[in-house]
Amino acid sequence: MRTQVAIIGAGPAGLFLSLLLKRLGIESVILELHTRQYIEERVRAGLLEYNTVQLMHELGVGERLRRQGLEHGGIELRFNGRSHRIDFRDLAAGKCVTIYAQHEVIKDLVAARLAANCPILFETTDATLHALDSTSPYVTFRHNSQKEGAAERLDCDFIAGCDGFHGVSRAAIPAGVLTTYERDYPFGWLGILAQAPPASKELIYVHHDRGFALLSMRSPEITRLYLQCAPDEDLGLWPDDRIWSELHKRFATRDGWRLTEGPITQKAVTGMRSFVVEPMQFGRLFLAGDAAHIVPPTGAKGLNLAVSDVGVLAEALGSFYSRGSSDLLAQYSATCLRRVWKVQRFSWWMTQLLHRFPDDNPFDHRRQLADLDYVTTSRAASQSLAENYVGLPLP
Ligand code: FAD
Ligand code: PHB
Repeated sequence: MRTQVAIIGAGPAGLFLSLLLKRLGIESVILELHTRQYIEERVRAGLLEYNTVQLMHELGVGERLRRQGLEHGGIELRFNGRSHRIDFRDLAAGKCVTIYAQHEVIKDLVAARLAANCPILFETTDATLHALDSTSPYVTFRHNSQKEGAAERLDCDFIAGCDGFHGVSRAAIPAGVLTTYERDYPFGWLGILAQAPPASKELIYVHHDRGFALLSMRSPEITRLYLQCAPDEDLGLWPDDRIWSELHKRFATRDGWRLTEGPITQKAVTGMRSFVVEPMQFGRLFLAGDAAHIVPPTGAKGLNLAVSDVGVLAEALGSFYSRGSSDLLAQYSATCLRRVWKVQRFSWWMTQLLHRFPDDNPFDHRRQLADLDYVTTSRAASQSLAENYVGLPLP
């Protein structure tokens, strides 16, 4: 098999890249480890930045998003039992964010790609990257749903490593090339989906003595809730009653606001880390999305950052194929990393502002409250939060 761009991974990065390339007349083949059903059902992110929403409309995949997405013009920060609204439309030039589940985005992108007769090879295993520092790289793999898993080879001009944090692309880069920057957090999030109408129209981020909590949603009938927990928290110790009791404590306000309860349909613990590799390129391999960087979910940035990376990559590949210029490809990593680091800073800032750290002392607690007081009373500070939250300009 031969194509122009081999894309490893059908997550947001790989799928958006394939549609951006298609628009430029560039061919690609996507190799995905899991089944279509698995990637279309995996519960992950929920919040799309303004630019991500615009891109879905531009690519012609925004029809369900237009009908089912929930536009949010602000968020609430809740601390000391009181809520304070950050008004994005006022503070961020009329922009808003949209709640629309990541697996719904995946469904829309997969459907568009398959409708255009562009291949996604699901259930490919043993993907191995070769000749990355030549002009003829290739990928070998096994395609388990066909030919009894015989070994196959995909020749290409470029490889896009869009296979997430645990993928094979980053690991294919020779030792000594990449520098890793990282920070682990001494906590995780216990996330649930509940069949209950959200108790608030907008997201609520809670700072509480007992730890962080977040109210989000998936639809007018489904609430998504998160609780700060230990990074290796045992879900077996969290029967539904205990989860609701803890959530009620953290969301409590002085004026008796109540969380709505309903049957819990999904429960999971997610670890938190900040992680960046530099550069995001080696030879003809370009890393994008979680393969190159991870942010803690507090700023809701992971999916959105993956989308901005592949926007840069598609433009650079477009310039290569249309004008024969490698300049933008050579700048890919530096261009992405400027935005990546600003988004890392914001995600870290939101995380340290709202969570309890095990070694916090009363000084740290007072400092967090002062920061929250400042952010909710100074127009300059709330504007800074708002412009980062709705999404910084694309590179
Ligand atoms: P992935 O989504 O990880 O996709 C990688 C794909 O590659 C997968 O389909 C995988 O199966 C495939 N793959 C892996 N290895 C191989 C291989 N060897 N061969 C072939 N294929 C392979 N982000 C936001 O922007 N907003 C949010 O609100 C938000 N909330 C989150 C909440 C939670 C609980 C979690 C866990 C994450 C959240 N994120 C959020 C982060 C977001 O989900 C990720 O940043 C995003 O999925 C990254 O996209 P990606 O395409 O880079 O990687
Ligand atoms: C979500 O809806 O899953 C979500 C929203 C905001 C975040 C993180 C996750 O900061």
